[in-house]
Amino acid sequence: MKKVIKNGTIVTATDTYKGDILIENGKILMIGRQIEVDGAEEIDASGKYVFPGGVDPHTHLEMPFGGTVSRDDFETGTIAAAFGGTTTVIDFCLTNKGEPIANAIQTWHDKSKDKAVIDYGFHLMIGEINEDVLNELPTVIEEGITSFKVFMAYKNVLQADDETLFRTLVTAKELGALVMVHAENGDVIDYLTKKALAEGHTDPVYHALTRPPEVEGEATGRAAQLTGLANSQLYVVHVSCADAVEKIAEARNKGIDIWGETCPQYLVLDISDLEKPDFEGAKYVWSPPLREKHHQEALWGALKNGQLQTLGSDQCSFDFKGQKDLGKGNFTKIPNGGPMIEDRVSILFSEGVKKGRITLNQFVDIMSTKNAKLFGLFPQKGTIAVGSDADIVIFDPHVKRIISAETHHMAVDYNAFEGMEITGEPVTVMSKGEFVIKNKQFVGKLGTGKYLKRAKYGEL
Ligand code: URP
Ligand code: ZN
Ligand code: ZN
Ligand code: ZN
Repeated sequence: MKKVIKNGTIVTATDTYKGDILIENGKILMIGRQIEVDGAEEIDASGKYVFPGGVDPHTHLEMPFGGTVSRDDFETGTIAAAFGGTTTVIDFCLTNKGEPIANAIQTWHDKSKDKAVIDYGFHLMIGEINEDVLNELPTVIEEGITSFKVFMAYKNVLQADDETLFRTLVTAKELGALVMVHAENGDVIDYLTKKALAEGHTDPVYHALTRPPEVEGEATGRAAQLTGLANSQLYVVHVSCADAVEKIAEARNKGIDIWGETCPQYLVLDISDLEKPDFEGAKYVWSPPLREKHHQEALWGALKNGQLQTLGSDQCSFDFKGQKDLGKGNFTKIPNGGPMIEDRVSILFSEGVKKGRITLNQFVDIMSTKNAKLFGLFPQKGTIAVGSDADIVIFDPHVKRIISAETHHMAVDYNAFEGMEITGEPVTVMSKGEFVIKNKQFVGKLGTGKYLKRAKYGEL
């Protein structure tokens, strides 16, 4: 059945205008003024913004980490994403050294199939490069996994060495993939954490004190230099501090093909949250860690002037009771990550657009369009245009609400933004022309979200 979204203000990365949107067979069929179609279902969007659905380029759903598994899976995680105005997620497929990549990818298909309520793609973690890995990568690209993630931190767990990073950059250039890095110097962090523990420092705040901004700045600069040397392309995930922003800006100025993502947590929370008493600081343990407040200005400034281009959630949720607990008495045992998938879009709107830090069109670009472009999904995803998937958010820009674990839809027992007042809320969310959220109620069906084969980097 056809649907028409009427009288909304359509906002894309480039335009803001009043118009109606006609939807058929999951796609946008027509955009215009006063579209009337016999028998079409009309959805009134007057007084609301109509955005392309958010594209979250950074999630860890049902991810094994630190002896446990992140709480939100492809069911609860994608439902929460939809409530928050996100209609596509790209999740990180982890690999194990010595095991075929095909097995890892199959594991991620098994986790997601029949569960997701919005479309999803995968990035592939590269932990080692050898003949077997090199032989498998062309197939990986053919299957639409066109971004490779290298961890420069988490020593003895996920961390890859510089040779692996460099060979990944060279290979990615040949194959048409975008290399993503978690940029922190894992060796230095290892030294600093051992030293802190030996001195009896076990509280959550030492998670941040043992991974200072310099270790992120150093790793970001190193990755950028290696990218230039390999004449390759790089996307730095979860940029948290001015030190890393400077390195990205410097490399961009030299003409290196490098992109930077930040996350809502770094824009609004700071290191003082890690000092909360009664082990509550553990709720805010993720990597890179929260920083001193002055870094937030650098991040907002970089989003505004284009030195950072995207916002990912880095969703990787663990319950406070039963999971974060694992690190009582030893901060290194606190599983790293937080519940961010639901509030990513709203926080960017409220703190960014409403507070005049970025424009409405920049907001759409940062939370959706640029992500779709960088990761080979545009124009199917990431915009409102004829022929694009009807992944659409009808957003009330005026309503005020308080973020709380009592009302969120993630599966975890706390919200990192608890008590924060924000302005604006997704009211209705569609994936491929079907309602997932209708008037703030979940009406979607598990399994309607499908795996997305993504185009090669730069092939748009
Ligand atoms: O602490 C975090 N960010 N956990 C998720 C894994 C990662 O490093 O992105
Ligand atoms: Zn990371
Ligand atoms: Zn500082
Ligand atoms: Zn992550």
